[in-house]
Amino acid sequence: MRKILRFDELDSTNAYAKRNCSLISDQTVVVAKTQTAGRGRLKRSWLSEPGGLYFSVVLKPTQIDFLPNLTQLMALAVCQTLHELKVQAQLKWPNDVLVDNQKICGILSEAVTSANGFEALVVGVGININQKDLRRAGQPAVSLVMLGVQQTEEEILNKVLEHFFAQYEEVLQNGFSAIYAAYLKHFPYIGKEVTIQNGPTPVRGRIETISPEGKLVLHTPNGQTIISIGDMCI
Ligand code: BTN
Repeated sequence: MRKILRFDELDSTNAYAKRNCSLISDQTVVVAKTQTAGRGRLKRSWLSEPGGLYFSVVLKPTQIDFLPNLTQLMALAVCQTLHELKVQAQLKWPNDVLVDNQKICGILSEAVTSANGFEALVVGVGININQKDLRRAGQPAVSLVMLGVQQTEEEILNKVLEHFFAQYEEVLQNGFSAIYAAYLKHFPYIGKEVTIQNGPTPVRGRIETISPEGKLVLHTPNGQTIISIGDMCI
């Protein structure tokens, strides 16, 4: 049985998991009904009012070659869950989930290291479920209830974890290739012109494909560029 630690309120499920990492066993899930200091990627904040689902999965694998692909797996697990509910969710590389270009899920993964090296990967997930107003989210955002889908946060948590752990061992062993076809099925941006923000100089180009390692392959005026991390703007 997977351990789930539940809280009414935390500063951030990621921050809690990192602070208490040495006391938390592999594959434990930390869930909070609200967060007072929810954190997003690129030092942004994450609006964490009641009605959303906020959780972090603490992973302590011994095989660590494919850690970045675990975040992509989580995005895929969320996308697969939403498709089961007939919600046409799409993946925005590397790990956002959108519906009609509005964000429904964001993921922030953080590694915990010590003098002994890698200790854990904390995969933090925020999914908009029962919030009725997301105008304060700071970006176009939508929740399941706004799409007419009635689900509890608990139901979505269970389904996402089921999808994630069904594919987890295979991704640990084989990396992105284990989910390549499934990921591409939900990635509608091949052939599209995008700008990738990573560092001070944005890179603009046309998406050729996603590489078998899960990287973005861009055709730019300077030739082919392979991008490992960044924020994709359409
Ligand atoms: C993003 O910027 O898109 C990532 C958002 C990640 C939010 C989740 S909510 C649960 C976990 N705890 C946090 O503080 N952040 C992540």
